[in-house]
Amino acid sequence: MSEHTVVPQPASPPSAGSPATDGQEPLVKTTNLVKIYEDKDQVPVKALNGVDFQVAPGEFTAIAGPSGSGKTTLLNLIGGLDKPTSGTVVVAGQDLGALSRNALATFRLHNLGFIFQAYNLIPVLTAEENAEFNLLLQGVPPKERHERVLQEFEDLGISSELIHRRPNKLSGGQQQRVAVARALVSRPKLILADEPTANLDSKTGARLLDKMRDLNERTGITFLFSTHDPMVMERARRLVILRDGLITEDEVRG
Ligand SMILES: Nc1ncnc2c1ncn2[C@@H]1O[C@H](COP(=O)(O)OP(=O)(O)OP(=O)(O)O)[C@@H](O)[C@H]1O
Ligand SMILES: [Mg+2]
Repeated sequence: MSEHTVVPQPASPPSAGSPATDGQEPLVKTTNLVKIYEDKDQVPVKALNGVDFQVAPGEFTAIAGPSGSGKTTLLNLIGGLDKPTSGTVVVAGQDLGALSRNALATFRLHNLGFIFQAYNLIPVLTAEENAEFNLLLQGVPPKERHERVLQEFEDLGISSELIHRRPNKLSGGQQQRVAVARALVSRPKLILADEPTANLDSKTGARLLDKMRDLNERTGITFLFSTHDPMVMERARRLVILRDGLITEDEVRG
C-alpha cells in the first residue's frame, strides 16, 4: 500500500452509546441529559451526568447498574414524568421540553405505557377497570374497551375469573401482569418499566419477561426497563450499564 492510497472511512462512525440505532430514526434520543436533585440539606446530587442515549423502534432493552446510578431518573425523564436540569429528551420525534404540562400528559397518554416496581394499580378498581384506565382516558367506547382488555388478559394468561377482583385479592405476579396489560392495551409506541420484576419470585419474573419479549416480537412495541435482576438482563436484547449517571457499557445481543 503506497502512502497515497486512500483508505475508505465510514462516513460517520457510530456514536458511542447507540449501537442499535444505526441508520434508523431513533424512538428515544437524549442529548447531554443532566439531572441534579437537591437533598434535604439543599446539597446538589447529580443523578445524571450528561447522558447521550438512543433507542431504536422495536428494541427490548434493559438498563442496569448499581443502586443510585440513575436508572429511575433516566426512565422518568424519558417518560416525561420529571424535567431535566439541562439537555433534551426527544420521543417519537417530539421534544418533551417543548410541551406544556397538558400537552405532555396527552402525549404520554397516546405514546407511552408505564410499568412500575410497585404495580401502581388503583386499589378501588377491579383488574379489568385498572387495565382499561388509559383507554377510558382516550375515549374508547365501553364495549371496545372490554374486548381489548379481555384479549390482553388472555394473551398474558390472566384468568377470566380474576377480572372483577381488586388488586388486594390478586397475587404479586397477577397484579404485575394486570399492570403490563394496562400498559399494553392502548398499544403505546414505548413501554417504560422500572424494575418490573423486583417484587416477583424468580420463576414468576422469568415468565413475565418471556411474555413481554413475546409481545415485543409480535407487536413491535419498544420496551425499555431498568433492573437489578440477572434473569432480566439475560433476556434483554440490549444491555446498557449506568454508573454514576453515565452510560459505561452498551452491549447488543442476539
Ligand atoms: N427526588 C430526589 N431527591 C434527591 N435525590 C434524589 C431523588 N431521586 C433520586 N435521587 C438521587 O439521585 C441518584 C440517582 O437515583 P435513581 O433513583 O435514579 O437511581 P437508581 O439507579 O434508580 O437506583 P435504584 O437501583 O436503587 O433504584 C441517587 O443518588 C439518588 O439518591
Ligand atoms: Mg431505581
